[in-house]
Amino acid sequence: MAGCRLVRVGRVCGIVGYVGHRQALDVVLGGLRRMEYRGYDSAGVAVLDGRGELTVERKAGRLANLEAELELAGPGRFTGTAGMGHTRWATHGAPVDRNSHPHSDAKGRVAVVHNGIIENFAGLRAELEAAGVELTSDTDTETTAHLIARAYDAGPTAGDLPASVRAVCRRLEGAFTLVVTHADQPGLIVAARRSSPLVVGVGQGETFVASDVAAFIEHTRDAVELGQDQVVVITRDGYTVTDFAGEPAQAKPFRVNWDLSAAEKGGHEYFMLKEIEEQPEALANTLRGHFTDGRVILDEQRLSDQDLRDVDKVFVVACGSAYHSGLVAKYAIEHWTRLPVEVELASEFRYRDPVLDRDTLVVAVSQSGETADTLEAVRHAREQKARVLAVCNTNGAQIPRESDAVLYTHAGPEIGVASTKAFLAQIAANYLVGLAVAQARGTKYSDEVAREFAELEAMPAAVHRVLSTVEQVRALGRDMASSKAVLFLGRHVGFPVALEGALKLKELAYMHAEGFAAGELKHGPIALIESGLPVVVVMPSPKGRAVLHAKLVSNISEIQARGARTIVIAEEGDETVRPFADELVEVPAVPTLLQPLVSTVPLQVLAAEIARTRGYDVDKPRNLAKSVTVE
Ligand code: F6R
Repeated sequence: MAGCRLVRVGRVCGIVGYVGHRQALDVVLGGLRRMEYRGYDSAGVAVLDGRGELTVERKAGRLANLEAELELAGPGRFTGTAGMGHTRWATHGAPVDRNSHPHSDAKGRVAVVHNGIIENFAGLRAELEAAGVELTSDTDTETTAHLIARAYDAGPTAGDLPASVRAVCRRLEGAFTLVVTHADQPGLIVAARRSSPLVVGVGQGETFVASDVAAFIEHTRDAVELGQDQVVVITRDGYTVTDFAGEPAQAKPFRVNWDLSAAEKGGHEYFMLKEIEEQPEALANTLRGHFTDGRVILDEQRLSDQDLRDVDKVFVVACGSAYHSGLVAKYAIEHWTRLPVEVELASEFRYRDPVLDRDTLVVAVSQSGETADTLEAVRHAREQKARVLAVCNTNGAQIPRESDAVLYTHAGPEIGVASTKAFLAQIAANYLVGLAVAQARGTKYSDEVAREFAELEAMPAAVHRVLSTVEQVRALGRDMASSKAVLFLGRHVGFPVALEGALKLKELAYMHAEGFAAGELKHGPIALIESGLPVVVVMPSPKGRAVLHAKLVSNISEIQARGARTIVIAEEGDETVRPFADELVEVPAVPTLLQPLVSTVPLQVLAAEIARTRGYDVDKPRNLAKSVTVE
């Protein structure tokens, strides 16, 4: 344990709490199964029986390890109708049993699960050790269990669990969601949040808390979104919300607009495969209701038309695939609005002193709405007085909460760690932002906006057609599974598609993959080409972008001449490219700016199939988690 104090332990975890009339263990495990995408380094549960006994079990590795352990323990050990659970993604500190949650105090009367980082934990730990408390893990979380137990045992909050939790929360720095139980209080669970997600589920004679509504959607669709620095007490009869000082506070009820089937695999081997197939629906839902009376409408619009008219530059900030969606949208937004658009990795944005003022529109794109880098970029932008519009797939997440306006992507829950349907929905939503700004600024006439919107509306059908032809891509994936590396090339909007294709392959198949702007090839990367190397080329339309098309055909012939195996994604009927394609994957003809919505799909399928063939878990790639709430 020497030196452990210096280890910062952070998590992007899934947490769930339950009080009701069912066996808590079943409810909690069901919730954890649906939240395992948030982290799978360890899992744990705690159940309170009605006689003041608290039973905890936790196990390193996937939830299945914990379930096997519980099986061994046999039925009966975990009876009780209140409980909590946790699934962990560790950033520092070994994912071993003793670091797994729930954490307890020395007497085993308190159990705590936690998502986030307690930044001042070293000081709190030193204080506890000085008071003679022996800590048994390397985590920051354990300190909270001891502190809450001590606050409950003596002093002004003695015997009052909610007050004890609030008192400890006031001392914590960093981002956290905590769920706390005490053996003396079997009928209630206390949860608190600061900058980490927490929602309440309100059922009939049962109440839930969780990081994500997916954890309780099986039981209720009535949810409540907690605000910043709030504490909620749940009992089987309902919930009460206060701030950290104990003053009554408002939380926002909402109804979840998707059901259990959306959060289940529905006969698919992996969530990702289901989510790839759901893309037409995700696009249609994202667009639905956003064009009314001849105008593009945003969701939670706290920006006036005048604000949008005043915009003189746009930044898109995001990470990973969401960043690629921004790179795609840059072409459309600049074209439609005639404004300069910069697309920035959120993790770089605030460290390079970007030029921002109140006429800058920052579009923060995030599926989860809780990515720490993107959230910090939003905060930085707002400090500099820029207007922030969030594009987000998660109702009430932190990024939309802290933004001036929101456009929700209605892709439904995305459980597979690799983004697929959310990515396509992000592109569509970014385009809506572009159209809304163009409309406000008058750089597009209303009939032009209507035409662009109609073209977007035709995309679900186009994506559907792509999906009906992917068997060829699957066969190709199986064939490519033993390749050592794959390159991806594109131009114009095809360039970010190439980057996205490479990212999918890296994260799912653990294969070296690189995306390039095809024009850059001769400036260095062409040296990588060797006999048999697969190179995936995303072709522009021969009609829409004839000049680019011709240039890309030359690029393909150059690499083919050097022995590469060319896999070409091209528009149906593109005969010019056929002689240069060792494999030709055809996608429907669509307007140039919308091409990424069709050409990305075969690349997703390719990566998933290569990963499957190599025997990897497509939904849970190694070292990754769905939401990255640490910088
Ligand atoms: C890749 C992927 C990630 C996310 C990135 C941002 O398949 O899923 O690169 O796109 O971590 O996540 P959000 O959109 O939740 O901010």
